[in-house]
Amino acid sequence: MKVWGAGDIDAVGEVTTLEVGPKDLVTPLARERARELGIELVIAGATPAAPAMATTPPTPPTPAVAASPRRGAGEPRGGPVRSLRPPSGALYRRGAPLPDALASAVHGSTGRVVVVGAGHVGMITALRLADADLFDELVLVDIDEGRAAGVALDLTHTAALGGFATRVRGTGTVEDAGPADYVVITAGRARQPGMSRSDLVGTNAAIVGDLARRVARTSPHAVIVVVTNPLDEMTHHAWQASGFPPERVVGMAGVLDTARFQALAALAGAGRADRIDAVALGSHGAEMVIPLSQATSAGRPLSDVIDKAALHAVVDRARESGAEVVGLLKTGSAFLAPGTSAAGMVLAMARDRGQIMPAAVLADGNYGIHDVYIGLPARLGRGGVCEIVELDLRPDELRALRQAADRIKERLSQLATAS
Ligand code: 2OP
Repeated sequence: MKVWGAGDIDAVGEVTTLEVGPKDLVTPLARERARELGIELVIAGATPAAPAMATTPPTPPTPAVAASPRRGAGEPRGGPVRSLRPPSGALYRRGAPLPDALASAVHGSTGRVVVVGAGHVGMITALRLADADLFDELVLVDIDEGRAAGVALDLTHTAALGGFATRVRGTGTVEDAGPADYVVITAGRARQPGMSRSDLVGTNAAIVGDLARRVARTSPHAVIVVVTNPLDEMTHHAWQASGFPPERVVGMAGVLDTARFQALAALAGAGRADRIDAVALGSHGAEMVIPLSQATSAGRPLSDVIDKAALHAVVDRARESGAEVVGLLKTGSAFLAPGTSAAGMVLAMARDRGQIMPAAVLADGNYGIHDVYIGLPARLGRGGVCEIVELDLRPDELRALRQAADRIKERLSQLATAS
């Protein structure tokens, strides 16, 4: 079973028909791209017909970049752009990478990323973003303005070492940071030994809600990346407080949990961590779902590489890794992997290559889940979530994912009554 994305359609070259397997999934973007290129999709061995849809039924033909659910990622933030023709004369499509000069004109980019919270996670996020040398400016915001400025200056001192020209600044408010393309929210209390992420909900909901409202005023076109725990609830809360379309509010957890699973599977003898493909979905916590049907090492099913007991031990340890680090540190929670993961999501969006990453996104019917932020595979573009990708999960994996959604909804209702 193959998931055909727009990039796969681009890659087939000059053809008029494209055979896809009967079980293949073709995303709406891919179908639209095929239409744009005059490629007829044919199910192998059948008469020309539309193969299974990867997500919701195709949207009616729309102008090049008119807003449509889940397509905001490619929609230029400088307002709808009609009949844009990049120099190549190729068709412009949502989420298509554009030459930088054109992109900044089309997308109204500010070239700025803001990281709120100059604690350990915020510092690592900023370090990774600066080292990528992608943004004009990175602004660290912290309630302790001196800390923000001191960390920013310290990071600036690494410019020659890291090889970046990104300007780094520290300040006390998101207002002073100025309008941004991306705002990463790491601010909030971290858990201490013996605490669950959910123990933080009251304190952190107030912080995240206030920040989301202020970011909506200061950076009305930004994508918000939430890192603050409890992640799923805080991301849902930030979406509601900001009033942003759901594709521009995402939570960082799946990238972190997947990385932990990859690292632990490598330790268990499954090969290099960066050759292990997997995806952590569901909640960032007890209801984390790592579908082993999707886990491979160098292309081989992971269940063929390490034995079942070891594999389940890896899943369990990955799910508890946050608490494991907290127990060892005693004075706070993990920050190297979370910060690196948050930066990785921002860079994937800014580079606009349609990369698929697990992210806390608003499910709107995907996997039979509605109206709750939960970790799902998302194709990311410059403006956030392009689409949610539906994997062919086993029935037990799908059941676990839906149960995770129910638990998150229960916690959200407690948050609503508490606030
Ligand atoms: C973790 O899992 C802090 O939630 C983060 O370590």
